[in-house]
Amino acid sequence: MPDESFKRTLVTSALPYANGPVHIGHLAGAYLPADIYVRYLRLQGRDVVYVCGSDEYGVAIVMQAMQEKVTPQEVVDRYHPMIRDSFKGFGISFDNYSRTTREVHTETSQDFFRRLSEKNEFVLKREEHLYDPEAKVFLADRFVHGTCPICGYEDAYGDQCEKCGTSLSPTEIKNPRSTLTDAVPELRPTTHWYLPLGQWQSRLEAYISSHPDWKPNVLGQIGAWFTDGLRDRAITRDVPWGVPVPPEAADAAGVESEGKVIYVWFDAPIGYISSTREWARRKGDPDRWKLYWQDEDSRLIHFIGKDNIVFHTLMFPAMLMGYGEYVVPDQVPANEFLNIEGSKLSTSRGWAVWLHEYLNDFPPDLLRYVLTSTLPESKDSDFNWNDFQTRVNSELADILGNFVNRALTFAEREFDNKVPPLSSPSAADEAALAELAGYPQQIGAAYERFRFREAARLTMNMARLGTKYFNDQVPWVTRKTNRSQCANTVHVSLQIAAALSVLMDPVLPFSAEKLRGMLRFEGVRSSLPDSDHSEGIGWSEAASSPLPAGHVLGHKEILFHKVTDDTIQTQIEKLESNDPESGPPYVEAKPTISYDDFAKLDLRTGRILSAEPVPKSKKLLKLQVDLGYETRQILAGVAEHFQPEEMIGQSVVVVANLAPRKMMGLESQGMLLMGEDREGCLSLISSGSEEGSIIC
Ligand code: MF3
Ligand code: ZN
Repeated sequence: MPDESFKRTLVTSALPYANGPVHIGHLAGAYLPADIYVRYLRLQGRDVVYVCGSDEYGVAIVMQAMQEKVTPQEVVDRYHPMIRDSFKGFGISFDNYSRTTREVHTETSQDFFRRLSEKNEFVLKREEHLYDPEAKVFLADRFVHGTCPICGYEDAYGDQCEKCGTSLSPTEIKNPRSTLTDAVPELRPTTHWYLPLGQWQSRLEAYISSHPDWKPNVLGQIGAWFTDGLRDRAITRDVPWGVPVPPEAADAAGVESEGKVIYVWFDAPIGYISSTREWARRKGDPDRWKLYWQDEDSRLIHFIGKDNIVFHTLMFPAMLMGYGEYVVPDQVPANEFLNIEGSKLSTSRGWAVWLHEYLNDFPPDLLRYVLTSTLPESKDSDFNWNDFQTRVNSELADILGNFVNRALTFAEREFDNKVPPLSSPSAADEAALAELAGYPQQIGAAYERFRFREAARLTMNMARLGTKYFNDQVPWVTRKTNRSQCANTVHVSLQIAAALSVLMDPVLPFSAEKLRGMLRFEGVRSSLPDSDHSEGIGWSEAASSPLPAGHVLGHKEILFHKVTDDTIQTQIEKLESNDPESGPPYVEAKPTISYDDFAKLDLRTGRILSAEPVPKSKKLLKLQVDLGYETRQILAGVAEHFQPEEMIGQSVVVVANLAPRKMMGLESQGMLLMGEDREGCLSLISSGSEEGSIIC
């Protein structure tokens, strides 16, 4: 069942930017699924190396440093350990976690750059960029601000106006100024290296079409890039933070290398290679990384979030192919985004669950399980605290924990805390054991296809099987009436618990270990790195009655504690109070429209002449509205917010050219504009002008 066509697997998770702590969205996107997958492979006894590290370059980190008035190095030195510790706390079992500011990464990235440059895989372009004559540096788009040419907002960024949302280029901005010194920037010529992705399109199309098994969300995005046509991508920057462009390559091109660095999206994926090299050195076998990156029997798998798809499926493969000698990604199981309580995750608004904060309040396995059950595998999904509570209490505690507890309690009370023998098993005993034996294959098949939600469901079904079997066998009756049948029931139940303690390990590694301790189940292969994965009871053996009769069990503990309403309420309140604006989130802004779109609306001042309830409708009021030139009947969904009397005589704004529509058998000939706040309260919008006036 495991894909035996590869001898070994290299798994990566996207390198997180070291400019903030990691949150639940990171975990669900790229880390939890990868960790589950590698733990599964290790339990299968497969050869796998799992690498990651902090992504420490890029303009975002420079910006952050400026805002905090510290150096970029100080920013990444603060967040790298925090991120590393959060991953550790969640049991993310990297073989190596590196950082892109390390020497090994500079070497590896520069080697890539040199080789591609020698092979003429780059093109050089001379262009005019904004330059700060006081600070004597070129200005990244974000470092220019000025007046928006569209809406006149005076503090628009060089790449975008935050007021009207328009994407800008820094040369379009009026009265541009440098964010660094407030100086007026000048245009200066500068030369940059480009990766001509356009020239790669047909080779990349061939590569992608040899992977029809990739997830539809991934292939969909790639298809859109191809349809648009791939464009050249600049891979150098004039900023003082990054891997320096190797001077030899610059000399060969006749370009001054001073102040030029490699673009962060060029060096970051090379970070996977650097991290593997670091791992090999640590293992005392410095060339061993090559086996995973350059041997055709090796399989490369990148776990990422959907915003990283183009870099991992097009840009990085082109770099690897351009270099030669390297394998290319065989799978890129990208996830979509995770929302929280129905709203888009936003770090600036504090609408996030931070991993280090979660770990102060709950054990890691609870979130691992809940997230695995709701991963945004094929579309965006939602995390919410009430669902967290339900899944923990009614699945982990009531089903899994309870089943294990009952089996162990019976063994302790009735059989001297030993595994009783199985003698003359009944049809029910054999059916349960047979069903159990099918799980390694079934759950494994889900993992092989990157279907983590399904795998979590199947894993919980093992506990459901145990519960049903236990209940049907009524051991609390047979303990008096038929000791040998009672022994069989407890025997089989303990074998189910033992199988669970291995097969639940990828999703619930901490609880699996605890359960193995309770069963005193030893000799199980470890799902952690740096251990021998060819030894011991592994994935395939786990469900074939691994506990012998007479085996002495360990001490019972509660596997999962229930989560109380109060605890959940505290989490919800904390989330809402993180929000600088406090209160529920704002509804997301709609996409920009043109003036012509706006001008299609015929907005008019009206006055409400009469208002009455609509029979059988809780929501609607029937209004007669005077528009000066005519009177309209309008049905408004405001009955839960206003008394009819309070509406009569009010001045309102009416959408006068909305197509009429029937509701509750009555025609509505327009619509009132209303303000709706974040709590859902409505208020009327009035205009001081006479009835029929146009609003423009
Ligand atoms: N730091 C990037 C992000 O958080 C991901 C980099 S992935 C790598 O979006 F491949 F470039 F390493
Ligand atoms: Zn603007």
